[in-house]
Amino acid sequence: MVNYKDLGLVNTREMFAKAVDGGYAIPAFNFNNMEQLQAIIKACAETKSPVILQVSSGARKYANQTLLRYMAEGAVEYAKELGWEHPQICLHLDHGDTFELCKSCVDFGFSSVMIDGSSLPYEENIALTKKVVDYAHQYDVTVEAELGVLAGVEDDVVAEESHYTKPEEVIDFATRTGCDSLAISIGTSHGAYKFKPEQCTRDPQTGKLVPPPLAFDVLEEIEKKLPGFPIVLHGSSSVPQEYVDIINTHGGNLPDAVGIPEDQLRKAAKSAVCKINIDSDSRLAFTAAVRKVFAEKPGEFDPRKYCGPARDEMTKLYKHKIIEVLGSDGKAE
Ligand code: G3H
Ligand code: 13P
Ligand code: ZN
Repeated sequence: MVNYKDLGLVNTREMFAKAVDGGYAIPAFNFNNMEQLQAIIKACAETKSPVILQVSSGARKYANQTLLRYMAEGAVEYAKELGWEHPQICLHLDHGDTFELCKSCVDFGFSSVMIDGSSLPYEENIALTKKVVDYAHQYDVTVEAELGVLAGVEDDVVAEESHYTKPEEVIDFATRTGCDSLAISIGTSHGAYKFKPEQCTRDPQTGKLVPPPLAFDVLEEIEKKLPGFPIVLHGSSSVPQEYVDIINTHGGNLPDAVGIPEDQLRKAAKSAVCKINIDSDSRLAFTAAVRKVFAEKPGEFDPRKYCGPARDEMTKLYKHKIIEVLGSDGKAE
């Protein structure tokens, strides 16, 4: 049994309480490799932003859960080396799907876990979430739950269409499970293709897709039912068109990739939404930078010469999100 507090990590309780009060959101960035982690920590150290490092099932398969946990432990020391005196770093399991997986993460030093029972019938979601909460809270590990289904691919769970969270269920769900935060469905989805072209309009000038707005009316209803309760938005990449264009003009093929416009996320961050999940944008930044190096310097074969620029581009992206979208800069001095 490893306690996350001994690793210098923090859970989400205080982060979320301050974010809800202060009208900003904590960035939850997924990491799968060293360059991504370095970029996240550098961006957060330079902006003094609290951060949630997320480990998905894909990341565990790709990089190994043990290695990722030790990397997060190293990240706390790296943050201090960068001059961040009191780093507020949470290590979070993203989309945990079983009690056993959540337990193994709690036992291994994660400070927060998500149990995603959103694809289960309501009562089964409650029972599974409560079981995880009862275990995790013994060690002061915080638990995120999910109610409502996001469109698209939820890790291995394929959801064909989105089912918005039903506001009339949230009080019962939060009370009976004891979860610390709740991920909701209001129109976001995972990946770089968040809307089908037929759901969007097209900007006549650029020819780019303009997505429909998020269901803020549902969010407002939920906030009324659970005042001050921490709400989480998954699938919140904006799919920056400058990266899509670089990728497409340098040998890639991402036709009609589209995300959540940043003004929608800014509005969400000012509400009860206090955790905003971003993964795909970092993948796009990485890929755009690598494709550019490959196209411009075909003789390059040292991975540091293309992963380095990719790391710089991700750092720029994370800082932009923190300062211009979430407003979490300066909240962890
Ligand atoms: O929730 C989705 C995340 O972007 C993680 O996806 O399992 O492919 O790493 P992944
Ligand atoms: P994106 O695919 O929009 O980056 O969402 C990531 C996410 O929700 C991770 O849980
Ligand atoms: Zn997610």
